[in-house]
Amino acid sequence: MSKKINFVNRSVMDGKKIILSHETIKDSFGEMVYSVWNLTKSKNLMGLVNDKSENRYTEEGDTLSELNPDTVKRCIEIWSDKGDLVLDPFLNRGTTPIMSAYLGRIGLGNDVVQEYVDEVLQQKERLLEKNSWAKNIHISCGDARKIDKIIKEEFVIDKVEYVISSPPFWNVEKYVSAEGQISDISDYNEFLRDYEVIVKKLYDIIKPDKFATFIVNDFRRNGKYIWFSGDTIKIFLKCGFELHDIVINVVRTPHISGIGDAIMKRKQTLKYHEYVLTFKRT
Ligand SMILES: C[S@@+](CC[C@H](N)C(=O)[O-])C[C@H]1O[C@@H](n2cnc3c(N)ncnc32)[C@H](O)[C@@H]1O
Repeated sequence: MSKKINFVNRSVMDGKKIILSHETIKDSFGEMVYSVWNLTKSKNLMGLVNDKSENRYTEEGDTLSELNPDTVKRCIEIWSDKGDLVLDPFLNRGTTPIMSAYLGRIGLGNDVVQEYVDEVLQQKERLLEKNSWAKNIHISCGDARKIDKIIKEEFVIDKVEYVISSPPFWNVEKYVSAEGQISDISDYNEFLRDYEVIVKKLYDIIKPDKFATFIVNDFRRNGKYIWFSGDTIKIFLKCGFELHDIVINVVRTPHISGIGDAIMKRKQTLKYHEYVLTFKRT
């Protein structure tokens, strides 16, 4: 049973002074989602994603994304509903469409690299042996700068209810080169221009009042702080989205900012978190 809380003086409940701790909040309101997440990777969810999930790097030295399926699961549960069409324009290892289908949504994924697409399709086949929900995973190969055309031609739809993705963080991680591969762009501002083209297309294909979540991080280049989370927010706002929520997500592999003495000598902190940025399509 929830108790009445006096919001004028939030520390008084039923006439008694209380400290609003996690326990008292849970007792009064039930389970709440906090804005700092520290999720471990569940083995059963990791097992759904890909056989190669334990290896960050492929034999060729290219990167397979490390997106935590538990983070993706929580986002999909909060910002979408059962039966929704959920799209990831930057598919990579396929975490997002796989988790979407697993959670009763229709999981749509796209990547510009045919090898990544083929791997996810193979994973879909493996999942289908035991899980009928895997039939709701749909994958395409194309350049996300044309994502509006791709969803029309490949998935025969015009709009989606939710977008969730972890985009390339400029060229911080190396992906397989392909025509349209935006992580191949050497100039950061040029990269941002193409990134914006894709975000604008996403605005056009998301239904009004629905959400888009981008999981991003900041990084350093030649000792300089690159505020990629800030640039992502600026681009989404410019394209017409409203900022809806920001979550700090603790990551256990702080590889992208460099480690060791050098970082302390430069008076920098070692980044141990990423941002889960959620926008509303107005
Ligand atoms: C950080 S990964 C995506 C992580 C992914 N959301 C996951 O679940 O693991 C970035 C991906 O974006 C893809 N990419 C880069 N440029 C693209 C473009 N123009 N269109 C589609 N995909 C692109 C890369 O090939 C790479 O696989």
